[in-house]
Amino acid sequence: MKSILVTGSSGLIGSEVVTFFHNLGFSVHGIDSNQRAVFFGPQGDTRWSQQRLVDTLPRFSHHELDIRNRQGLIELVKQLKPSGIVHTAAQPSHDRAADIPFDDFDTNAVGTLNLLEAARQACPESPFIHMSTNKVYGELPNSIPLVEQETRWDYADPAYSNGIAESFSIDQSKHSLFGASKVAGDVMVQEYGRYFDMPTCCLRGGCLTGPNHSGVELHGFLSYLVKCNLEGKEYTVFGYKGKQVRDNIHSEDVARFIHAFYETPRCGEVYNLGGGKGNSCSILEAFALTEEFTGKQQVYRYVDQNRIGDHICYYSDLSKMKKHYPQWDITKSLRQTVREIVASWQGRLG
Ligand SMILES: NC(=O)c1ccc[n+]([C@@H]2O[C@H](COP(=O)([O-])OP(=O)(O)OC[C@H]3O[C@@H](n4cnc5c(N)ncnc54)[C@H](O)[C@@H]3O)[C@@H](O)[C@H]2O)c1
Repeated sequence: MKSILVTGSSGLIGSEVVTFFHNLGFSVHGIDSNQRAVFFGPQGDTRWSQQRLVDTLPRFSHHELDIRNRQGLIELVKQLKPSGIVHTAAQPSHDRAADIPFDDFDTNAVGTLNLLEAARQACPESPFIHMSTNKVYGELPNSIPLVEQETRWDYADPAYSNGIAESFSIDQSKHSLFGASKVAGDVMVQEYGRYFDMPTCCLRGGCLTGPNHSGVELHGFLSYLVKCNLEGKEYTVFGYKGKQVRDNIHSEDVARFIHAFYETPRCGEVYNLGGGKGNSCSILEAFALTEEFTGKQQVYRYVDQNRIGDHICYYSDLSKMKKHYPQWDITKSLRQTVREIVASWQGRLG
């Protein structure tokens, strides 16, 4: 039976990928140490997600392992020899990294190298899919001229009318420590593809979201925003008049792309993976959409200070993904995604 190894299996993307491949008949091995609870405290705890996978998926095995444990990782991958590896374990927060630079780099950069080397030693022919981030572009996207609209910013330069493409520079801009550790992992994944001819790819995510997200203030804005709305809790908007734009992609559409790459891999590829212009929204627009589904008015305060390096407007150009994998497309609209997030939090908050 074909098997897949997923790191960060209790997280948003990991758990979606586990379920997706399991539904296709794979046996699935997950690695997670619930490090998200260490990074973000009890609000970030993912044990509920791990338990759900163990309870509902008979061919799923959980491995309690930290990807910083190089030897443990190499031994496990050699034992499993999976037919594919999906790497989603990470310290995922832009803002959190400055407080924990060693944990951040050891996880995002060194942990990725540990996994790549384990793969090279155990199963170099197995597709290796790495979750990277649009933060590898640093704050360079903020240098694109913008036009201010009533509820959002947008690109004024027609060269970006479809969004940001993979050819955009990742060099010479401020990234945050998180962005820099993800650049290190991203370039290493490309290198194992180009240097060792391994079937690797980096998926530079926009805002990945969905009903399984344990959104917290510092990571997972849409999930956290919906949670605040339902609890009547004040949401803080940081700068840019609340018109900052994000492209949102449902984690199921992420899993579908990962599977498409697994089926027909290429070496050392890079894709910008987001919801694209069609699934983009500003914070103000996200408030309005959420209010539509919950019937509750969003309570928020505005702080006239943006987060360091935060993108003013970012949406992914999906052309390369669609060209290489024409059978793939976005299937979940932003409305559908918000509707599912609302339903999930309503269930979890009781
Ligand atoms: N969610 C987003 O909006 C987004 C956007 C762009 C990129 N990404 C990238 O996608 C990937 C997955 O993101 P996510 O939103 O699913 O994150 P997540 O925090 O929900 O999941 C990550 C999982 O990895 C686990 N983990 C972290 N460090 C670990 C370690 N050292 N050893 C073992 N397990 C560890 C955590 O416990 C968690 O369950 C990350 O690489 C992230 O940078 C996410």
